[in-house]
Amino acid sequence: MIIGIPREIMHDENRVAAIPETVQEMVASGYQVHVETGAGKGSHISDEQYQAAGAAIQPSAAGLYRISDIILKVKEPQFNEDLQCPETDLMHEGQVLIAFLHPASPGNRQMVHDLAKRGVTSLTLDGIPRISRAQQMDALTSMSTCAGYKAMLMAANELGKFAPQIFSAVGMIRPAQALVIGAGVAGLQAIATAKRLGAVVHAADIRPDAAEQARSLGAKSIDLGIPADLAVGSGGYARHLPENWLKQEQEILKTALPNMDIVFCSALVPSSRAPILITAEMLDLLQPGSVIVDLSIDQGGNCALTAPGQTIRHHDHGVTIIGIKNVPGLLPASATWMFARNVSHLLRYMTDQGRMTLDRQDDIIRSALTTINGEIVHAAFRTE
Ligand code: NAI
Repeated sequence: MIIGIPREIMHDENRVAAIPETVQEMVASGYQVHVETGAGKGSHISDEQYQAAGAAIQPSAAGLYRISDIILKVKEPQFNEDLQCPETDLMHEGQVLIAFLHPASPGNRQMVHDLAKRGVTSLTLDGIPRISRAQQMDALTSMSTCAGYKAMLMAANELGKFAPQIFSAVGMIRPAQALVIGAGVAGLQAIATAKRLGAVVHAADIRPDAAEQARSLGAKSIDLGIPADLAVGSGGYARHLPENWLKQEQEILKTALPNMDIVFCSALVPSSRAPILITAEMLDLLQPGSVIVDLSIDQGGNCALTAPGQTIRHHDHGVTIIGIKNVPGLLPASATWMFARNVSHLLRYMTDQGRMTLDRQDDIIRSALTTINGEIVHAAFRTE
């Protein structure tokens, strides 16, 4: 069977789905691996390195898609400007696609329908459940780890003052104060990064477990006073709060905001719009020069004024709001390394004697499977 690794075509996407080490593993498992020329460039991996690992280099995307039985990709199929067609048009019946498809996102619904129409068997990496058996395949967790780290660095970079306490001949400079709202995977990594930078870190999360983990990393936890049975739902994930409790949370955050230099927003409820935790009026409570980084922007953002994909300097409030998307793509070497290894683990899990198997009774496969035999089977489409 041939595995194809295309060059990612999304604007500014520097990641790629395989590294030489995972190519070697795939070849050792009995697959042939073909890589589109230049696919690794953004992550500083040359065609020659892939060849040395046992891959063949394909000069064109069209040729790569035509010969491949399995396509490993980072981002969902996009419109290919060079070929003037969507990547789904390059795919064929029976081909297997593994990528972040984000089927629940309204902008991706047509693409999922197109995959089904073409008879592609697709699995979405954002469907891999966060269970211990699937940890090594959990690319979403890996990417949130990258995003938490990089986005905190971006906030510190935008801040016009030191993060650590500085003692100088002319006096002492106090450390910056950082508040992380939503101490999940990305938030905990942001807390660890802010601590390493020397900031004083505060954390707010509605799940008692998350607040505890934040404290264990050295953050001061802000008690939001939300009852655990309201905050935590099935599988231990956060629940969407009723309006009156969300208002209470905003009131508590209002008391914390005037002391903060950095506000890191990564509060997310699975399959739901991110809760608005910082309203436009609350921005007036921040000191001029403060920075908000809103990582939840893909789900609509935790701050009412975040602009998707943009950094905005609000002169009236004196506050900068960073709403950059695809933050892991700004850390391409590490993000690619983690992503490629996650995908390689998934592939190994699905491989038996050099062939791909698809056990639809298996929890991990069932929740990642998006299209098969011309049908859309992903949970996000069940109500259609
Ligand atoms: P996660 O599910 O691990 O963490 C979300 C946390 O938010 C949970 O701990 C949850 O308890 C908490 N939360 C939910 N409602 C809350 C509320 N009302 N107040 C305070 N906390 C609340 O999610 P993860 O993986 O850390 O991702 C966080 C966000 O970052 C997501 O929106 C995700 O899409 C985004 N992200 C963005 C990237 C980008 O490039 N822009 C890359 C990676 C992640």
